[in-house]
Amino acid sequence: MKIAVYPGSFDPITNGHLDVIERAAKLFDKVIVSIIRNPEKRSFFSLKDRFEMLKSSSFHCDNVEIDSFDGLLVDYVREKKAGAVVRGLRAVSDFDYEFQMALTNRRMAPEIETVFLMTDYRYSYLSSSFVKQIARLGGDVSSLVPGPVAKRLQKLKKGAR
Ligand code: PNS
Repeated sequence: MKIAVYPGSFDPITNGHLDVIERAAKLFDKVIVSIIRNPEKRSFFSLKDRFEMLKSSSFHCDNVEIDSFDGLLVDYVREKKAGAVVRGLRAVSDFDYEFQMALTNRRMAPEIETVFLMTDYRYSYLSSSFVKQIARLGGDVSSLVPGPVAKRLQKLKKGAR
C-alpha cells in the first residue's frame, strides 16, 4: 500500500491545496493530509478550526485522511508507515524553500521521497495569507477557497473568528 503524507499549515485550506490533494489521491493508495500543530509561525486559525475546514471541504476521494502532527515531519511520516511526502509547487518562487526542506528531510530520512505536484495554473498565485487578507478587507473569496472555508472567512468581515 503506497501511503503519502501531505503536511502543511492549511491556515486555511485553499482551492490550490484541494487541487494538490486530489492529484495526490490519484497517485497513492492513501493520502494523509496532516496539519502542523505547533508551527514556528503562529497560525491564524486554531488547529480545531483548520481541522474542521479541511474535513468539511469535500475531497471527492475516499482515500484521503485528515490528521495533525507536531515534532519532526520525518518521524511522523515513519510512524504512519508512509513512503512519501507530497508538497505542492505553485511557482518558481516556492522552489528554494521546498528544495531546502526536501533535502534536509532526505538527509534525516533517506528512505522517504518528497514528491512535488504542480498545482493547476489557475491556483498558481493563490496563498492562504492573501485569502485571509482579502476576506478581512471585505473581498469575495468564494472562488479561491472551498465553500465551507468561504463561509467561515465571511465572518471575518464582521470581526468574528
Ligand atoms: O504549509 P507550510 O507552512 O509551508 O508547511 C510547512 C511544514 C509544516 C511542512 C514544515 O514546516 C514542517 O515540516 N515542519 C515540521 C518540522 C520539521 O520537520 N522540520 C524540518 C523540516 S526541514
